Amino acid sequence: MARDFTKVGVIGLGTMGAGIVEVFARNGIDVVAVEVTDAAVEKGRGVLQHSTDRAVSRGKLSEQDQAALHARVQFTSDMADLKECQLVVEAVPEHLDLKKEIFARLDTIVSDDAILATNTSSLPVTEIAVATINPKRVVGMHFFNPAPVLQFVEVIKTVITSDEIFEEVKALAERLGKKPVIVGDKAGFIANALLFGYLNHAVSMFESKYATREDIDAAMKLGCGYPMGPLALMDLIGLDTAYEILDTMYKQGRDRLHAPTPIIKQMVSAGLKGRKTGRGFYTYA
Ligand code: CAA
Repeated sequence: MARDFTKVGVIGLGTMGAGIVEVFARNGIDVVAVEVTDAAVEKGRGVLQHSTDRAVSRGKLSEQDQAALHARVQFTSDMADLKECQLVVEAVPEHLDLKKEIFARLDTIVSDDAILATNTSSLPVTEIAVATINPKRVVGMHFFNPAPVLQFVEVIKTVITSDEIFEEVKALAERLGKKPVIVGDKAGFIANALLFGYLNHAVSMFESKYATREDIDAAMKLGCGYPMGPLALMDLIGLDTAYEILDTMYKQGRDRLHAPTPIIKQMVSAGLKGRKTGRGFYTYA
């Protein structure tokens, strides 16, 4: 029988992690939200505050419910505070060694029956799982940005994930109001495998000055009915994250479609990472 999740952990409070914290807290689940430094913790708290303020200002959340939501979240820079969590979702940057190190540490902190999930977009979940003593309890739980809005979650089952754990994560995703799909451990899973070649191609069109950023975005938004154009979407995802996803997919498949267009790395080096830094392909107030 699926357990009733009452307390979960989220490690990494960047764009995705902070959104995932909000998803759990909005659904009445207590969350231990972990970052490495106090400054990063405060940044994560700010992202949650900003997102829920917006929901309040749009009349989607009452001030009382906002206060209750925030009261469910314990922010900390100490991973040991995850001790009582029944599930921990890791959402740190896309570096395999970092993720493996975190999962190995988690093994020593949480109870034996806790579930460990990674929100990785493109790294091998199996590699992360085998960094732990009990890889059967490791799954991928891949949310989409903005996590509080998009109703899709890819649940990644490795060859060693236990069926029971996998079913529990699927049921939890449904409880969070998401549509879970089951997918194997292949770079990019379903959505990113289809999306990132397209985004890369759009950046390459922009780089070669074939068309302006506005026209590229208008083509897909107005011409094809996408909710936003590819360059605006790159800014939302974050150019650093997009670069890492493309690079991982390229290294796994060696297909030209995913060879990161050079300007992405240049923009990342220059600090133009998209919305998170106030400037990417567009400038944000
Ligand atoms: N955080 C929280 N909520 C947000 C938000 C954010 N960053 N951005 C928008 N919202 C909310 C708004 O508050 C609003 O909520 P209500 O309907 O409850 O009022 C709702 O989303 C719609 O927002 P807007 O009216 O401001 O704007 P919109 O209708 O243009 O929608 C959007 C904005 C949801 C971002 C939409 O443009 C969209 O879906 N874009 C595509 C996003 C996408 O493709 N994401 C996948 C990226 S790939 C990925 O995530 C995988 C990976 O591994 C990197």
